[in-house]
Amino acid sequence: MQPLTRRSALMLGGAGAVATVTGAAGLLWGAGTGFKSAGGKDLREPQALHSADGRLQVKLSAALGQVRMAGRDATALSYNGSLPGPTLFLEPGDRVKVTLENRLSDPTNLHVHGLHVSPQGNSDNVLVSVEPGESFDYEYRLPVNHPPGVYWYHPHHHGTVADQIFGGLYGAIIIQDSPPVPVTRERVLVISDISLTGDGSIAAVSAMEKMMGREGGMVLVNGQLNPALAARPGERERWRIINACTSRYLKLRLDGQNLQLLGLDSGRYQSPRDVEEVLLAPGNRADLLVTTAKGTAVLRTMPVYRGSMGSMLGGNNGGGQFRSGPYGAVLATLSVTGAPAAGLGPVPAQPTPRDLRATPVTARRELVFAMGTGMNSGGMGSGMLSFTINGRPFDPARVDTTVPAGAVEEWTLRNTSPMDHPVHLHVWPMQIIEQAGQPVDSPMWQDVVNVPARSSVRVRISFDDFTGKTVYHCHILDHEDSGMMGLIEAR
Ligand code: C2O
Ligand code: CU
Ligand code: CU
Repeated sequence: MQPLTRRSALMLGGAGAVATVTGAAGLLWGAGTGFKSAGGKDLREPQALHSADGRLQVKLSAALGQVRMAGRDATALSYNGSLPGPTLFLEPGDRVKVTLENRLSDPTNLHVHGLHVSPQGNSDNVLVSVEPGESFDYEYRLPVNHPPGVYWYHPHHHGTVADQIFGGLYGAIIIQDSPPVPVTRERVLVISDISLTGDGSIAAVSAMEKMMGREGGMVLVNGQLNPALAARPGERERWRIINACTSRYLKLRLDGQNLQLLGLDSGRYQSPRDVEEVLLAPGNRADLLVTTAKGTAVLRTMPVYRGSMGSMLGGNNGGGQFRSGPYGAVLATLSVTGAPAAGLGPVPAQPTPRDLRATPVTARRELVFAMGTGMNSGGMGSGMLSFTINGRPFDPARVDTTVPAGAVEEWTLRNTSPMDHPVHLHVWPMQIIEQAGQPVDSPMWQDVVNVPARSSVRVRISFDDFTGKTVYHCHILDHEDSGMMGLIEAR
């Protein structure tokens, strides 16, 4: 079994461990872990479950067991024995019932990441704990004006989130467009990372890796290594991409093909933007149009610099620079051959995005994301590293932020640490107003906003529609489990 530890701080293993973690993050495709992977098969997609007449009823059973991963049998966590879990295709206004069955040996629960639904009762309530052997019935009611786009579900039981997602518990949620965007084909691509041992079980993660945010040795697309995709020239494909990695940032490229971004998270641009690459912090999603051109194109993720731990470790460790995937990774291969396809109609005009820049703000707050050496987290001695927001680690019994329902607030997200933190708020999306002191010139709505090391981002949030308690946190899930999370109540 995997070690599931609950800690508010991590013990540092000594400065020498930095070399080890950098080495581990550099592994590709399981090299060095002994797991014999096999890539290159045709892309599979998770089971598709569609709502009908405004309803969907689903059972998700979380268990440790045998799953197909990277072309081999592995022992990992999964929903319903498949990795990723089934994709839920929904429409605005739907009512969705999910029975979560916990067949794990630790508590779990379910979060619908990015959905604008109530955080109370048996809706998107992350304070629920489903004990081993028990089941819980969730019910979500999507507003009739819910934004279409790419969302996902995953466990959110504080203290075990990173282990459970890393182990294989995640699945996609798609909220359909009306009218649909005309495309030749749609694909759901759930990108995750994991490290397996030679016998195909989940590799242990060191305290140092947790501090940096663990990155798995293999980067998978729908549980596969370098799957093959095929198309004809001149087709328009829609790729729904989810960064389900625990900590890895993805910088995606598909050179030689034509890429247009419809939007990120629930934020849809007024018209698609031509892009060369797409940066996804952990938890972010991209809704991407690919217009195919003849040839073979490789979907790859490039290295992403996400900070340095050098100064926190006393400076005698060779710098401790840290990149997501220092050598990058090949994710999938697209072969475009055959006779050109007939052109498709234009992408329908999208609604004008909401813009809070001219809206009066009812309150301003600052959230400080910090990593410290134990001075501020309950009297722990030196050698411990704390992960805090406004000086405090997460406490489910303490409400950190209270907002009146309907408020429009401006938050400054300040990162005083030497590592990036991707900041996520549940239920209500954030409009990015300013990054590193520079105003953003068009509306950008995201639910995970990267706050670079020793920098800040200003966002505006409109606390519409729902009341209740929920959370904001760093979506490097090892940091969240270590305390970098706060409780917010709208009332
Ligand atoms: Cu994707 Cu609070 O989570
Ligand atoms: Cu979330
Ligand atoms: Cu973080």
